[in-house]
Amino acid sequence: MTTTAPSPKGFSPVRAAPKPGRTVLFRIKRCEGPGKPSRWETFAVPIERGANVISCLQAIAANPVTIEGKKSTPVVWDAGCLEEVCGACTMVINGKVRQSCSCLIDAYAPSEGDTVTLEPMAKFPVIRDLWVDRSRLFDALKRVRAWVPIDGTYYLGQGPREKPRSQETRYKLSECMSCGCCLDACPQFVLEPDAAKWSTSFIGAHAISQARLFNMHETGKVLTGERLDSLMGHGGISDCGNAQNCVKVCPKSIPLTESIAAIGRAVTIHSFARYFRD
Ligand code: SF4
Ligand code: SF4
Ligand code: FES
Repeated sequence: MTTTAPSPKGFSPVRAAPKPGRTVLFRIKRCEGPGKPSRWETFAVPIERGANVISCLQAIAANPVTIEGKKSTPVVWDAGCLEEVCGACTMVINGKVRQSCSCLIDAYAPSEGDTVTLEPMAKFPVIRDLWVDRSRLFDALKRVRAWVPIDGTYYLGQGPREKPRSQETRYKLSECMSCGCCLDACPQFVLEPDAAKWSTSFIGAHAISQARLFNMHETGKVLTGERLDSLMGHGGISDCGNAQNCVKVCPKSIPLTESIAAIGRAVTIHSFARYFRD
């Protein structure tokens, strides 16, 4: 009986069973530092049972010799949780942005000599090799005040009651791990190394969705006006071209296009209210 392995993200189903003891090639885009030219290097890695991209990068670090026999340096990448929670290990694997810690080699490269291509995300400045600077992503969360503004240093009494329906929606939105996949895939979000321009560049689907999350929170909604003000200006919600790439690549299946539509409606109402008030 033939079995079909589960389809990895962005891949057609793999038909062959993974070959034990095989060697897989890793074609990696290398870069020595910000602004430096990039180059490609290929390493051959013997695959251990249950290997993922991170464990293969560790194997390369232990013996950084290319397939041409040239001694190189360990590849640099970022990681934290190793269980698809922190988003730090996000990179472009075989052309698709995703987390490297959850990328299993058996699904991506089941046969001897298969190649896995690794590149840094394209919309964030490269620090070195596969490690990028995601500061702009976190700056966007500050732009929309993605927090509940309470002083937790003393007892404030009971908070307002939360509605279960709203909690359910918010729970899903709260799973965002700030990985950057939605930004890397978005045609409106372009590489902008100049931090001075971030406040007027497109903010991105993750921040729009987080604004929705905190606007729905009974205590967090006190900043609704400020959040919507920040999304009305340059680089705000009107810059979204509705291409919907973001929702397709989100590893947490966050309903980003629903959030964009909900915030779009809220911004329209807010701008009318402000027009008549002022
Ligand atoms: S919305 Fe999804 S893709 Fe975007 S940063 Fe959050 S988890 Fe990543
Ligand atoms: S809908 Fe399109 S333009 Fe808007 S955030 Fe998503 S990918 Fe970007
Ligand atoms: S290391 Fe945290 S998501 Fe991969």
